[in-house]
Amino acid sequence: MNQYQTVTDDETVLRDGTIKLHRPEAFEGMRRAGRLAAEILDELAPLVQPGVTTAALDDAVRQMTLDGGALPATLGYRGYAHSCCISINHVVCHGIPSEKTIKDGDILNIDVTPLLDGWHGDSSRMYLAGDVPLKARRLVDVTYECLMLGIEQARPGKRLGDIGAAIQRHAEAHRYGIVREFCGHGLGRLFHDAPEVIHAARPGTGPELKPGMFFTIEPMINLGKPPVKLLSDGWTAVTRDKSLSAQFEHSIAITEDGCEIFTLSPKGLHKPPYE
Ligand code: MF3
Ligand code: CO
Ligand code: CO
Repeated sequence: MNQYQTVTDDETVLRDGTIKLHRPEAFEGMRRAGRLAAEILDELAPLVQPGVTTAALDDAVRQMTLDGGALPATLGYRGYAHSCCISINHVVCHGIPSEKTIKDGDILNIDVTPLLDGWHGDSSRMYLAGDVPLKARRLVDVTYECLMLGIEQARPGKRLGDIGAAIQRHAEAHRYGIVREFCGHGLGRLFHDAPEVIHAARPGTGPELKPGMFFTIEPMINLGKPPVKLLSDGWTAVTRDKSLSAQFEHSIAITEDGCEIFTLSPKGLHKPPYE
């Protein structure tokens, strides 16, 4: 079976393990969904303050998503009942919004996925609450650099492993741990599709990158060791050694001569500090 499948815009797309190659018409839908995701992340920046609950931030995400004419793709996804994921400090990903308040010195990831006119825009950024220690700010900076170094590899003729290799090289040069249990993913009409985008890999391995591929890159990088464990709520993933973890995520497309980032911040709020 062919690993790749060229899909037309109006086609019913199945989660059949094939890597979808989208035609140029599909890019506009992804641009709109991606822009809304980025706008929501921009608007969150001033709201993330010590004392605010993560439930209040989730309410804000839901409202902004609906105001943008979209639905939060996470709401009702495999039983998940919230509009975003908020992962604080040693939480690696899929932190569940709650009445817990953000504390001075916390670092947190907010991950949003508006579903707009049938297309998914999936993106996350880190936020700093109050005075954050230098060690934590460095982790956040290097994790952002990891994402962008991965994206630099994203062009036709390269392989998926080249992306993971660039991320791994940078994270490990800083002696950080790269999470293996969660990956980036193909997306488009579907939220989570092939291929799996691993964040630690050997160069020159994995599927070849071809124009029309849509996928996320979303490295999770730990101050300590890579292993994670899942809490009994079935969602929250934390570092086993309780070390801090950071993550950034973009949704991108492979183009004829490189890549297009769908979830770039219109306000230039790519990484903290956002003031
Ligand atoms: N947005 C997450 C991702 O980057 C997925 C969250 S699924 C949820 O793939 F159900 F946990 F919300
Ligand atoms: Co994602
Ligand atoms: Co996401």
